[in-house]
Amino acid sequence: MKLGFIGTGALSSAIVTGLKTLECDTTSVILSPRNEEIAASLAARFADVHVAADNQAVLDACDTIMLGVRPQIAREVLPTLRFRPDHHVVSLIATFSRDEIAEMVGPVKRVTKALPMPMIAIRQGPTILFPPDPDVAAFFGRLGQAIEVASESEFDALSVATATYASYFKYLETIHSWLKDHGVDDAKGRDYVASLFAALGQAPETTPDLSFAHLAEDYATRGGINEQVLRELTEHGTFEQFRESLDGIHRRITAAS
Ligand SMILES: NC(=O)c1ccc[n+]([C@@H]2O[C@H](COP(=O)([O-])OP(=O)(O)OC[C@H]3O[C@@H](n4cnc5c(N)ncnc54)[C@H](OP(=O)(O)O)[C@@H]3O)[C@@H](O)[C@H]2O)c1
Repeated sequence: MKLGFIGTGALSSAIVTGLKTLECDTTSVILSPRNEEIAASLAARFADVHVAADNQAVLDACDTIMLGVRPQIAREVLPTLRFRPDHHVVSLIATFSRDEIAEMVGPVKRVTKALPMPMIAIRQGPTILFPPDPDVAAFFGRLGQAIEVASESEFDALSVATATYASYFKYLETIHSWLKDHGVDDAKGRDYVASLFAALGQAPETTPDLSFAHLAEDYATRGGINEQVLRELTEHGTFEQFRESLDGIHRRITAAS
């Protein structure tokens, strides 16, 4: 595979890092020159990673093209490029439908949407794909878990889950800052929270037959401290509000596509 990236930002950089830290990877990677600093540092760090003179040179040198630009840039830039019918385009752009991308990349027939997460840099986490494609599934499967979905509506619904990372870290930060306010050393509190949630994160995989609701029940001993926090947050409408935010993201994603 000759893999090219249009847009060398945070996500493209994470993918290249995950790929090129695999043992024995032989994929040839060509990066578009923006962001200049990120592209240059990836090329300096990894063999077989080069920076092209411009976006068109990426297309001309590669068979598989990943689109890692922001939506507004994609609208400006993609229609000006000469794609070939034999290109395989993999769009990482979260808010564009497959059809919208297909329209912008002219003669290309094979267009796949992929949504990895930043942890792909250490080859962890899922990447959702639409439509199912064995080559793209094999590529992302080496960099974590590839999840192929059969409909764009399922892809859109799964995409909503990716809007929750910042709130997750805010949840951890709330615990950490509370610990600091109660005399726990900053680094010790951080390590404790990180280790606690890394261990809790294992629970769904180690008990695959248990639903999340069941896990919540299991951890909420009747009359215990977990039950109290869960009940109080529920009574305050925290989880209802959270669901409403997910609905809002879903409306935003589906309206955009
Ligand atoms: N980051 C994530 O976790 C994540 C997750 C899922 C999906 N996505 C999607 O991935 C896409 C990229 O996100 P990102 O977070 O990687 O954004 P980003 O860090 O802003 O990267 C976008 C890159 O595009 C470059 N660029 C700007 N104009 C360009 C042009 N004319 N030609 C080529 N490249 C150009 C920018 O370079 P300059 O810095 O020089 O402007 C920047 O490096 C977005 O569409 C987003 O929806 C991101």
